[in-house]
Amino acid sequence: MRPARRPVPDAETQRANRRDWDAYADEYQATHGAFLGDVGFVWCPEGVQEADARVLGDVAGRRVLEVGCGAGQCARWLTTQGARAVGLDLSVRQLQHSRRIDEETRVGVPVVAGTATALPFDDDTFDVVFSAFGALQFVADARRAVAEAARVLVPGGRFAFSVTHPLRWTMPDDPTSAGLVVTGAYWDRTPYVEEDEAGRVTYAEHHRTLGDWVALLAGHGFRITRLEEPEWPSGHDRVWGGWGPERGALFPGTAILAATLD
Ligand SMILES: C[S@@+](CC[C@H](N)C(=O)[O-])C[C@H]1O[C@@H](n2cnc3c(N)ncnc32)[C@H](O)[C@@H]1O
Repeated sequence: MRPARRPVPDAETQRANRRDWDAYADEYQATHGAFLGDVGFVWCPEGVQEADARVLGDVAGRRVLEVGCGAGQCARWLTTQGARAVGLDLSVRQLQHSRRIDEETRVGVPVVAGTATALPFDDDTFDVVFSAFGALQFVADARRAVAEAARVLVPGGRFAFSVTHPLRWTMPDDPTSAGLVVTGAYWDRTPYVEEDEAGRVTYAEHHRTLGDWVALLAGHGFRITRLEEPEWPSGHDRVWGGWGPERGALFPGTAILAATLD
């Protein structure tokens, strides 16, 4: 695996990330499943729980779509809160974990394989669309993903998502003090990719600034209602990739945006 920064189109991003998440899903669930909770809604490595943050508001009776649902933990928790929740994910292996947890917990979440950039739902199907570190930073065509969320939401519907805080893109993916160095420009949107020996992309992440997200949401008829930049909780010592207490004490690792479709 060779890390690099270079443009990569949406179809290639999807192909690479589907294979990567299929291959990584077992390890991902083994490593992070307990922290996420089989029936739990955690927005980010800082451990922000929807039960406390209430970014989605009251979901009882609401039709909810989780985009990039992984093993469906968030959608499953919302189901226990009375929502009619559905999950969508690019990785079939992640969805197989969702099915496994459905059976273990006896809380079932209907799921479908697909991409955030082509949602397989009719217009005006959902009251809420959300993504907890799901698809938004894994798609090349964020404009399409936001347009799709707007299309499947009813007027007045809510869209919310968490992503890596854009500031983190300026630094190496290293949670220790050695990673506290700015190595790239905040405004450099060149995607992060991993390549195999033949130069084929095996994984891709796409960076947008906070201003990009504001423009994308406003440009699709959304009114932004919240921007959360969670502080690292004292006593929380769990390291997850580039997230950990050392950097967490200094600046945010996550941005959570919420918006209403006018
Ligand atoms: C970090 S996980 C987050 C899932 C869940 N919220 C969790 O915390 O485990 C990211 C998920 O996004 C999915 N994903 C990546 N690209 C996607 C796309 N274009 N459309 C839908 N899901 C995608 C991955 O397969 C993966 O399951």
